[in-house]
Amino acid sequence: MAIQLSDKPLLEWAGDTLAIALFEEAVELTGELATLNEQFAGVLKEVIAEEEFTGKANSTIFTRVSGASSVKKIILVGLGKADNLKVETLRRAAAAVGKIAKKQKTKVLGFSFPLWNNDPAATVQALAEGVQLALYQDIRFKSDPEDKGSLVETIEFLGFAGQEAAITKANQIVSGVILARQLVAAPANTVTPITMAETAQQIAQEHGLQIEILEQADCEKLGMGAFLGVAQASDLPPKFIHLTYKPEGTPKRKLGIIGKGLTFDSGGLNIKGAGSGIETMKIDMGGAAATLGAAKAIAQLKPDAEVHFISAVTENMISGNAMHPGDILTASNGKTIEVNNTDAEGRLTLADALVFADKLGLDAIVDLATLTGACVIALGDDIAGLYSPDDALATQLEQASASSGEKIWRMPMEDKYFEGLKSSIADMKNTGPRPGGSITAALFLKQFVKDTSWAHLDIAGPVWADKDNGYNGTGATGFGVRMLVDWVLEN
Ligand code: BES
Ligand code: MN
Ligand code: ZN
Repeated sequence: MAIQLSDKPLLEWAGDTLAIALFEEAVELTGELATLNEQFAGVLKEVIAEEEFTGKANSTIFTRVSGASSVKKIILVGLGKADNLKVETLRRAAAAVGKIAKKQKTKVLGFSFPLWNNDPAATVQALAEGVQLALYQDIRFKSDPEDKGSLVETIEFLGFAGQEAAITKANQIVSGVILARQLVAAPANTVTPITMAETAQQIAQEHGLQIEILEQADCEKLGMGAFLGVAQASDLPPKFIHLTYKPEGTPKRKLGIIGKGLTFDSGGLNIKGAGSGIETMKIDMGGAAATLGAAKAIAQLKPDAEVHFISAVTENMISGNAMHPGDILTASNGKTIEVNNTDAEGRLTLADALVFADKLGLDAIVDLATLTGACVIALGDDIAGLYSPDDALATQLEQASASSGEKIWRMPMEDKYFEGLKSSIADMKNTGPRPGGSITAALFLKQFVKDTSWAHLDIAGPVWADKDNGYNGTGATGFGVRMLVDWVLEN
């Protein structure tokens, strides 16, 4: 699918389907739209009245137009109140248009949308992201898919001539989101620690990043006992991935992005029981997927910050060599951990990844992890938990969240709750009591960051959508990529 830009007047546009965005309480059709309505023998006005279309955000109507017109079908999409227009509303409206166009087998689609915030680049970027993310479809595992996907060949954004750079930027970001979606959606017999490392190699090669893959022996030398404790029951070798993007010249800042990379989480000997969602635990590398997706996008976008992408990738399995509940592991910073629950494995792998990143002399580290069911209970499926002792970093991420539309909510780092992780035999346990379970998880991670400003995002909810949600279809969302890209570009 190609997106084109033009300043063609609405009345001269020819194609299958024209999508027109309207503000709430401004659907009376004036100017060009009134003329268009006349061209269509008044059908626009009629359908607006018949369907009581008021231009509310996320509302749409669709009609075929007859006569000798150069357009066959019209989609009207509401944007809500003009003075309250958010860039996310545009993304969602573009997604809604894309889905109708797909259903209508549109090939050539026109977009007539207003300018957001006097910022044509941001407007075009949002529209391009929304429509492309909505039209993405994963048919890799179907031998003969019933749904052959969208037929849309060309999309033309009217009134935005000259914004090619914004399209390129959107395409680069979308390529990262789609990579993350594909990695999360693919099952654990196709996405393994080995293939994750291969994917990282491919990104490095294609986009010119530095790459270092630490093998098990390298991790042993670095004393990564927490990560290796989780990995020890798997028949597959663990892979510790470290990609680096370096800008030309002196970097403005040095940033680290870490992702939890469990290609499958059985729970280990504290095995996930029936009804625990064990069959969905291929998603447990969603943090690593977002990290690789962000790497792919950032390598193309070329910001002026140096960015390190890190993931300790393994499976949490069961074998005669599995961790026993109660085992004591020593992480690479020398801290000892009593594993009172082998299903709290993500924090063990992240511990060594955080120690590694903390030694790189970075200005800030953000980790993303499908860490706790407790966070999903607290915030639901759409919102990630943000945990950080650093207000300035938390604010940066909240801003990136607002402009990307990826929702996060700051949770308290209540130090007192660390009592729940006290061990009588080691420095700490890996699992606290059920209440506040996502907070103790974050407090656990904090023990492994000494020198660097740090934030943790628990993405266990939004990594996956159970039902269609705007530009996210059912399935893997690629959550985190767009927010991370925004964070790196803006800070
Ligand atoms: N990968 C899970 C968390 C998870 C749950 C992700 C639901 C996505 C959806 C994590 O490793 C886990 O098992 N967490 C336990 C922690 C508990 C043992 C302290 C949990 O949340 O139950
Ligand atoms: Mn687990
Ligand atoms: Zn897990």
